[in-house]
Amino acid sequence: MSLRDEIKKLREDFVKGHLLESEVNTDPFKQFELWLGQAVESKVSEVQAMTLCTISPENKPASRIVYLREFENNQFWFYGNYNSRKAKNMETNPNVSLSFFWPDLERQIRIEGKVVKCDPSFSDNYFNNRPRESKIGSWSSNQSSELKSREELENLVAEYTKKFEGKEVPRPDFWGGWVLTADYYEFWQGRKSRLHDRIIYSKENSLWKISRLAP
Ligand SMILES: Cc1cc2nc3c(=O)[nH]c(=O)nc-3n(C[C@H](O)[C@H](O)[C@H](O)COP(=O)(O)O)c2cc1C
Repeated sequence: MSLRDEIKKLREDFVKGHLLESEVNTDPFKQFELWLGQAVESKVSEVQAMTLCTISPENKPASRIVYLREFENNQFWFYGNYNSRKAKNMETNPNVSLSFFWPDLERQIRIEGKVVKCDPSFSDNYFNNRPRESKIGSWSSNQSSELKSREELENLVAEYTKKFEGKEVPRPDFWGGWVLTADYYEFWQGRKSRLHDRIIYSKENSLWKISRLAP
């Protein structure tokens, strides 16, 4: 069978669970924590990986995976380079979306909201707990800029390794976090024959309204 035919034919029925209005938490953040906890318990691989979608100044969307690093009170933190493409997008348009897909549980979560750069104390705290090699990596990578070669990157790593020899590696001021405050959530549970459950939470007069969407 050709690869194209194989891809067309691939189809799995989702049968592992259901999601009913009567069983969801009235607070979407608590529902998020419940599902995240279940995903961690089920040892879902790369459970903290989420797709971050941003919009460019030219109104073009771009998405990439980043890691969720903190979550508290309807807020979600992730970290990266403040000169990167995503950083430039978020500077001009703070509206972003996050999505998680946990195939082992046949679940997807979509979150939308606005981001701001997080308090530097969060960035310091997260950065200071990273492995030394990752800290050196942050100094060495002008994320999203063009490199002439792999060698150029490796030379920069060697340079910064030498520069910080025997010293603590400080957080570069071009590296840090963002925090998203959510105003929309969707919890998707795969069901048989594509009749999935989709429960959404939208903010209305600062209260969460729960509804169901067609799959
Ligand atoms: C599993 C996984 C986790 C990642 N985690 C991060 C992250 O936490 N922060 C980050 O800046 N990039 C992370 N990346 C790399 C991004 O996907 C992306 O390549 C990078 O942020 C540059 O994107 P940009 O040019 O759109 O800014 C991760 C990639 C993968 C596949």
